[in-house]
Amino acid sequence: MVRTAVVPVAGLGTRFLPATKAVPKEMLPIVDRPAIQYIIEEVARSGIDDVLLVTAAGKSAIEDHFDRRLDLEAALAAKGRDAELAEIRALAELVSVHAVRQPEPLGLGHAVLMAAGHVGEDASFAVLLGDDLLEPDSTFLARMVAAHERTGRAVIALMRVDDPERLAQYGVVAAVPGERDGEVLIHDLVEKPEPGHAPSDLAVIGRYVLPGSIFPVLRTTAPGRGGEIQLTDALRTLALDEPIIGLVLDEPRHDAGEKLGFLTATLAFAARRPDLGPDLVAWLEEHLDELRERADRAGRADRTQTQKDGA
Ligand code: G1P
Repeated sequence: MVRTAVVPVAGLGTRFLPATKAVPKEMLPIVDRPAIQYIIEEVARSGIDDVLLVTAAGKSAIEDHFDRRLDLEAALAAKGRDAELAEIRALAELVSVHAVRQPEPLGLGHAVLMAAGHVGEDASFAVLLGDDLLEPDSTFLARMVAAHERTGRAVIALMRVDDPERLAQYGVVAAVPGERDGEVLIHDLVEKPEPGHAPSDLAVIGRYVLPGSIFPVLRTTAPGRGGEIQLTDALRTLALDEPIIGLVLDEPRHDAGEKLGFLTATLAFAARRPDLGPDLVAWLEEHLDELRERADRAGRADRTQTQKDGA
């Protein structure tokens, strides 16, 4: 049974500076909820009710967000704001949230190893990376948990990436077709292969269901790409023993770790909201020419600047 989801949130979020100077990047709002809330809601939807945040200094707002806030509850109750009150309370009851510190930024593999004490060496667990956002009603993680329960093997989420430059930003797997549609058997993995050296076009995205046997492997995994202890390298060791299951994503995914992905997630999530979607899309349709003009101007300015810099 998969009881715990491990969510690493120790990163500095430098790609979103200055917004992330005093606010954790996981707390940046997509529409009206922090990005991390979509992750925790996805965990709850998959039937997992225990979350371990692997956190660091400056990140306590994330824990506060999923805790009770009695003064706010009292203020909302006094004003008769029942809907908001119910929402705030429900948020604190979604899952039980625990936290452990990653004292040094030694890599994703190291962050996952910090969870060993909480999860236990014999239990299976999920790992979700906050930069990868699936649709707000996605049941993909639940499918991964089911595949793990059926096979007892590690299960990781994959997506096809045709651009070799982009593929080089991910862990990439070598795999053969599995028994079921959308399922592959992974026998090797490479973390961020140089363009042209990837073993396939199947990239690892930030959803994993792992057996506790990954912990001893992580303890003996040497630093890899970027001098960091890579989860991908530990998975490679597991895969040499017996194939890992890969489930190929068949729904949209947004890279909220990049500004563009953060914006597309904002638009896509807002568009499906009854209170915002119709008005937002009407605004976009009405202003599309003006937006195009602005973007063309920005593109021209960028090219002129590049030429000046090159001169
Ligand atoms: C991490 C993993 C990588 C995976 C990616 C998915 O990389 O190391 O294998 O493909 O997440 O988002 P990061 O993006 O943290 O550098």
